[in-house]
Amino acid sequence: MARVTFLPLDKTVEFDLDALPYKEHGRPKSLLDVAVNFGIHLEHACGGSCACTTCHVVVIKGAECLNEMDDGEQDRLDMAADLTLHSRLACQSVIEQDGEVVVDIPDWNRNYVSEGGH
Ligand code: FES
Repeated sequence: MARVTFLPLDKTVEFDLDALPYKEHGRPKSLLDVAVNFGIHLEHACGGSCACTTCHVVVIKGAECLNEMDDGEQDRLDMAADLTLHSRLACQSVIEQDGEVVVDIPDWNRNYVSEGGH
């Protein structure tokens, strides 16, 4: 089983990685795909195509369960507000193996959510 916790919502979801339906947002089995599958609000202004930074998350735990960052994601992340060493784009971060992943949605994105009203 894969287990993902989204902070600060403190919402944890558990699922069979092989059985996760693809919801057409971000890469299949990406953190964004997981969020959409479980109705967790995570901004994704570009629809998950690595063309914005609104899906920026900070990986607190379980980075080893995720794919390696590619150059496109790295370049895009360089433009993100509040960039950290553990930052990823949720739409590009694919869960490749079972385990526990914890991610934090940074302030900037949270503000964007409340101000954007969607
Ligand atoms: S949703 Fe735009 S880069 Fe992830």
